[in-house]
Amino acid sequence: MLVTSALPYANGPLHLGHILEGIQADIWARFQRLRGHDCIYLCADDAHGTAIMLSAEAQKQSPEALIEAMRESHLADLQGFGIHFDCYHSTHSNENRYHAERIYRLCQERDHIAERDVVQAYDPQRGLFLADRLIRGDCPRCGASDQYGDHCERCGASYAPAELLRARSTLSGAEPIDKSSRHLFFRLPQFADSLREWVEADHLQAPVAAKLREWLDAGLKEWDISRDAPYFGFEIPDAPGKYFYVWLDAPIGYMASCQRYCDEQGRDFEDYWARETDIELHHFIGKDIINFHGLFWPALLEAAGHRRPSSLHVHGFLGVNGEKMSKSRGNFLLASDYLQRLDSDYLRYYFAARLGAEVEDIDLNLSDFAQRVNADLVGKTVNLASRTARLLERHCQSRTSTTPADVGLIDAFTTAGEIIAGHYEARRYSRAMREIMRLADDANRFIDQHKPWELARATPNDPRLRAQCTTGLELFRLLMLYLKPVVPTLAERSEALLGETLDWAGHERRLGERQLTAFQPLLQRIDADDCAALIQQGG
Ligand code: 2FM
Ligand code: ZN
Repeated sequence: MLVTSALPYANGPLHLGHILEGIQADIWARFQRLRGHDCIYLCADDAHGTAIMLSAEAQKQSPEALIEAMRESHLADLQGFGIHFDCYHSTHSNENRYHAERIYRLCQERDHIAERDVVQAYDPQRGLFLADRLIRGDCPRCGASDQYGDHCERCGASYAPAELLRARSTLSGAEPIDKSSRHLFFRLPQFADSLREWVEADHLQAPVAAKLREWLDAGLKEWDISRDAPYFGFEIPDAPGKYFYVWLDAPIGYMASCQRYCDEQGRDFEDYWARETDIELHHFIGKDIINFHGLFWPALLEAAGHRRPSSLHVHGFLGVNGEKMSKSRGNFLLASDYLQRLDSDYLRYYFAARLGAEVEDIDLNLSDFAQRVNADLVGKTVNLASRTARLLERHCQSRTSTTPADVGLIDAFTTAGEIIAGHYEARRYSRAMREIMRLADDANRFIDQHKPWELARATPNDPRLRAQCTTGLELFRLLMLYLKPVVPTLAERSEALLGETLDWAGHERRLGERQLTAFQPLLQRIDADDCAALIQQGG
């Protein structure tokens, strides 16, 4: 299996919305590996485009220096959240240039490229064609001043940038002029039938398939894949001064990352990308980029004779305390700010508890977050280990027993494994978490009923003490195994205690008589002040 998440743009730091997607994909990849599958997870920075060129200019540095620094900061944030990549590359790389040029040439040879002139707004002072967002002026409908090139924030009107009154380039203040230039187009309509067949093959979420059907029914248009200099990207072969549009080489970046991985690991690139392959390709993306991954990308792959994605896993947007994340609302949460204050596993667990397989928006409600993590992870799960392992340490030389007190309960935990696995597989993480917490409740009920601490006080030599604590710890071990894709660092600390690396097959094995490692606290409760500070920082 090959898993990807969307390539973050290299012109700004990551926020918790990026992290949501990384965590969703990482949980899935970790689950597959835990089950013994060969599953790699790849990503990269999306390093091209006008926005990055302009940011670099504004910061008085080269785009190369900017994107390199960004890539490092992105990777550090992602790794800080326990998101594991087999390769994290860049679209500004030799591998990506190679594959973008190769795919483009194949498209040319196969008559999938058209050429024609396009008239666009142009900033005569800066010598640059202007994307809609770089033009502002007065709304042609209500007259509101300083509105975007394509829509009015006051009255909601949509219009073409040419209709704006007193239009100005946001870069220089100059009045845009119309200018014609030659563009290259990918002939997307040639792929309408094969896209339709791909969409109907039952590997997309229902609303995603419905959206794609809607676009297919409306009729596809040719896709402009070229941009004029100055542009930060790859110059198009035999078209001096023309560059590949950032969205052409962005998804090819998945391939570039795979190429780098294969070169490093001595694996065969073709195994992943040949038309007839049995390796699955899973893209995790947000709902705003369905068109790129559901139309252009599968069509490009088809055009170049490659396999198409096995599946798109589309998620909604992340809100904070019921509102959209935004700098002006002061709830724009940066990944690095979170990591300075809080444990990554807290957020991984919370997102897992909120994520289903639907394309729904997710809300990070900070008081719910603290309460949920403290109740579930600390109260119900980690406490099981600290209560039982400490008693074993104090009274039983840290040794578990081959004869636990409640074999039936342990067997029930093992049996539940298949249901939990089914939920993970189908990306119903919230249901997996609910199932696991239901088991945790059973485990705590067992401990509360038997009260091993009372035995420890009255008759510490009673063999029932060891049997009861072994049961509690075995149940903890199984809970931790099931939670391992979600909370990898907590799982690692638990593995140190248990002296075992947990894998899925372990849900059918037992602790037996085992020497535990000295008990170390596994996870602290979330501090409400740290949570509050996070929001104050978000401004
Ligand atoms: O929307 C974005 O943030 C893009 N940088 C995602 C690119 S995903 C892939 F196609 F490269
Ligand atoms: Zn208006």
